[in-house]
Amino acid sequence: MPEGTVADRVASAVSSLEKRFGGRSPTVGLVLGSGLAATDVGLVDPIEVAIADIEGLPAPSVKGHGSSWTLGRLEEEEVLLASGRVHAYEGFPLAVATIGIRVMALLGCQALVVTNAAGGIRAGLAPGMLMLINDHINFAGRSPLIGPPPDRGERIVDLSEPYSLRWRQALQARRADAPLPEGVYGVCLGPQYETASEIEMFRLLGVDAVGMSTVPEVIVARQEGMEVLGISLISNYACGISGETLSHQEVISAGVAARDRFGKILQLAIASRPR
Ligand code: HPA
Repeated sequence: MPEGTVADRVASAVSSLEKRFGGRSPTVGLVLGSGLAATDVGLVDPIEVAIADIEGLPAPSVKGHGSSWTLGRLEEEEVLLASGRVHAYEGFPLAVATIGIRVMALLGCQALVVTNAAGGIRAGLAPGMLMLINDHINFAGRSPLIGPPPDRGERIVDLSEPYSLRWRQALQARRADAPLPEGVYGVCLGPQYETASEIEMFRLLGVDAVGMSTVPEVIVARQEGMEVLGISLISNYACGISGETLSHQEVISAGVAARDRFGKILQLAIASRPR
């Protein structure tokens, strides 16, 4: 792992990317979940940078996640797409796992679209469906904000509306014929999947879909003042909901199978960002 504080690593990553972007700067960050690829989003005039060449950025070790960042245009926006997220379960402190979000903010992203694969808990959330996240519950018991006071933004962060209501409404208005289901995303540390009893507990507590990512990124994005939209691909029924066993391969395959549809929703999400 590279040396240096989180702030040093953020600064190094920002300067490596600025050198590559030749004066273009992003307005929206986009984090891709399992199985999705940069090509699905159809960015115009892309500049792709391998994570290995972005000094300071933590590198993912999980199969099914990419390993580069791409800057490209979509509609009126310059989008900075991160393919290759890192998770707490890979051993990164959450302040390190979320360096990429701070880098996006410093480069100029005012908004963030986060995506993930999740296990469906609520009745009716079946594999293959996309769910707009309207809130979350942090079962990981950890915060990415633990550490020295931040250079920018609040020390104690408001999370009364982590997922922008006006952005969700704007996106749903463009899908009036087929609105996306909305729901609460619960995050666990992983990397093991949950037990059936844990899922039953989450269901009773109001969790609609469960996963192992996204929440730390959203907390940091809110601390940085970014407006956030979150979308889960329901890749499987959560443990105990259908009686089947779970595998990471199944989750990745669900992401791959949903690529076209997910790519289109992401284009719509970015096009509908309120400004
Ligand atoms: N549980 C936790 N994380 C996940 C799941 C799940 O069922 N599916 C995809 N990511």
